[in-house]
Amino acid sequence: MFHNKSTTFMLKNIYKLPFFNREHCKKNIIENDIQKFIEEEIFVEYDELEEYSINDDKTVKPFLKWAGGKFKSLNDIKNLFPKNGKTYLEPFVGAGSIALNVDYEKIIVNDINSDLIQVYLCLQKDGIKFINECKKIFTKENNTRESYKKIKDEFNTSKDIYRKAVLFIYLNRHCFNGLCRYNRKGEFNTPIGKYGNPYFPESQMFSAIEKIEKFEIKNEDYKNIIDMAMEGDIVYCDPPYIPLSESAYFDAYSKEKFTLKNQIELAESASMAAERGAIVLISNHCNWYSRQIYTEMYGGKVKMFDVSRTISSNIEQRKAVKELIATFSPKK
Ligand SMILES: C[S@@+](CC[C@H](N)C(=O)[O-])C[C@H]1O[C@@H](n2cnc3c(N)ncnc32)[C@H](O)[C@@H]1O
Repeated sequence: MFHNKSTTFMLKNIYKLPFFNREHCKKNIIENDIQKFIEEEIFVEYDELEEYSINDDKTVKPFLKWAGGKFKSLNDIKNLFPKNGKTYLEPFVGAGSIALNVDYEKIIVNDINSDLIQVYLCLQKDGIKFINECKKIFTKENNTRESYKKIKDEFNTSKDIYRKAVLFIYLNRHCFNGLCRYNRKGEFNTPIGKYGNPYFPESQMFSAIEKIEKFEIKNEDYKNIIDMAMEGDIVYCDPPYIPLSESAYFDAYSKEKFTLKNQIELAESASMAAERGAIVLISNHCNWYSRQIYTEMYGGKVKMFDVSRTISSNIEQRKAVKELIATFSPKK
């Protein structure tokens, strides 16, 4: 069988997983399975949020484009949350599709990406003033390859956190597919996208202000946040997807990678929080690996559903991808 670099990576890693059982999974079956997953995953691209709307006045649409954003699954996910809860914690908040649309007394949001977190903090502190500052650089003159490079360079060298937050909104809307990708040096390195008139998410930012005012915002590793969860709390986790191959898997939201080991540790933290009396929900791709980790290894309950995704850069072509939500229910 032909092995490309991705297959070799996956094979190398799958053998390290504690649940891998050579007796039950003959090598050729695993190889075919992996090749199939890689073919499926490689062509999945990120969604154009503007095309999608939920017809409901109260729903807050995220103002950032974000890989793996869950806005389209908002209702499927929220339906699994208990109506009442003490504190809602979201350790991988990204663009906040879910956090911006829940209504609990206390909401703690977190992400490892400090550029993203600065945007939330600036919006929380300065509201309309921050929005107006961001709007100023959405000009025709700034929608060229040269201007994009200049602004990207300024972002990568600036020490002014407020200015960086302003530039982050520009980059998010002008870069390729809204991808927030960093190189090993921690520099933002996504190329420019092809947008005739990049959209400034003014109304989305306005609607978010009221919600963000209530947030307690953190910039730590997810584990510290799950460890805070106690009896009666609700934790929703949306980590980078389970890796299927080096090239198919997008986990460059920050210069630190989210590895297979992290995925297993996340499930372990979730089941420990459930022991303390919290309910923990985790979203991920639905595949053999995620099911093994959440159900076989840590005893979670899994619900599957279809999500429509844009394939390649062609927004006409869509395909349904299976996702899951694993629930770890309170043990006391
Ligand atoms: C799939 S995205 C979340 C998308 C979000 N639910 C939304 O709808 O926009 C995963 C997020 O996890 C964050 N992340 C990756 N590793 C992390 C870690 N170790 N701790 C906390 N956040 C992390 C990434 O920066 C990214 O924003």
